[in-house]
Amino acid sequence: MDFATLKQLPKAELHLHIEGTLEPEMLFQLADKNQVVLPYADIDAVRAAYQFNSLQDFLDLYYQGMSVLQTASDFYDLTWAYLERCQADGVVHTEIFFDPQGHTVRGIAIDVVIDGISRAIAQAHTQLGLSASLIPCFLRHLSEQDALDTWQELQPHLAHFVAVGLDSSELGHPPEKFERVFALVRDAGLKVVAHAGEEGPAAYILGALDSLKADRIDHGVRCLEDKALVDRLVAEQIPLTVCPFSNIKLKVFADLASSNLQALLDAGLCVTINSDDPAYFGGYINDNILQAAAAQQLNDEQIRVLLGNSFKASFLPEEQKQAFL
Ligand code: HPA
Ligand code: ZN
Repeated sequence: MDFATLKQLPKAELHLHIEGTLEPEMLFQLADKNQVVLPYADIDAVRAAYQFNSLQDFLDLYYQGMSVLQTASDFYDLTWAYLERCQADGVVHTEIFFDPQGHTVRGIAIDVVIDGISRAIAQAHTQLGLSASLIPCFLRHLSEQDALDTWQELQPHLAHFVAVGLDSSELGHPPEKFERVFALVRDAGLKVVAHAGEEGPAAYILGALDSLKADRIDHGVRCLEDKALVDRLVAEQIPLTVCPFSNIKLKVFADLASSNLQALLDAGLCVTINSDDPAYFGGYINDNILQAAAAQQLNDEQIRVLLGNSFKASFLPEEQKQAFL
C-alpha cells in the first residue's frame, strides 16, 4: 500500500500522549514565550538528543519537555496541532492520553490543562469533523496516594474522559500498586487502560487484567512470553495498542524487522498501530503503519485489519464503530 492510499483510509488512534506530540519547533517557541531555559542550543541539538537506551531515558526528556507547557493556550496549541495532523492523516477518531501529575507537580493547575486540551477537542469536532476523547493517566512511578489525590482533583472534569490509564516507568511498578484507585475509576463508569508488557514482563499484563480489570492493554508486546495469557487475550479480544517506532526507539526490539507484529497478528490478537509520542519517536501513525508493515511483510489485507481493529478497540459507542467497519 502506498502512503497516499493509506492516508485517505479512515483510522482511529488509541495510544497517543499529547505531551509526546511536542515538536522541537513548538518546544522552542513556548520556551521563548514562557521564559524557560532549555539545555539545547537549537532544534538540531534537540533532535540529536532524542536517542534513548530505555523507557526511563526517554521519560527524563519527556518530563523536561513538559516544562514549557504553562498556560491553557499552550495546551490548546499543542492539542490543536496534533488534531490538524490527525485530519491530514485520515485519523477520524483519537483517544488522547495526558499526564495530570506531570503538570500538577510543576504547579500547573489541572483546570488549566483540561481547559486548553478540551477547547481544541471541541473545535476539532465542529471545524474538522473529527472525534476525540480524553484519557488521563496516572504516573506509576509515583505513589498510590498521589494517584488517589489526583483522582480527587479530576472529579469535576469526569465528563471529559472515556477512560483512565497508567503510564510512566514500568519496571518495579506493577499494576497491583494501583488496584484501589482503578476500582474507583470503574465505579465512576469509566473504562480502564494500562501500559503493560512494554519493558515489563507478561506478568504485568496479567496484573493489569486481573487487578485493574483493564479493557485495553497499551503496548502489551511481551504477551507472547506467556502462552496462556495470549489465549486469554485472544479469547476475550482484549486489544493491544502497539507502537512500532516507540518500541525501536526505546530498545524493546532492535529494529522493525525483529519486532513481533506479524506474530501478534498470527496469534489472533486484536492489534492496533499507534504513534505513542510521535515528536520523540520519529513519526506519526501512517509512518508507523507503513514502515512496520514493510518490515514485517504485512499485506494490504492485514493493514486493513489493523485499521478495522482501531475502531473495534476504540471506546466509541457501538453504532459509531459500526459506521467505520
Ligand atoms: N510508556 C510509558 N510511559 C509513557 C510512554 C510509554 O510508552 N509514553 C509516555 N509516557
Ligand atoms: Zn505510551
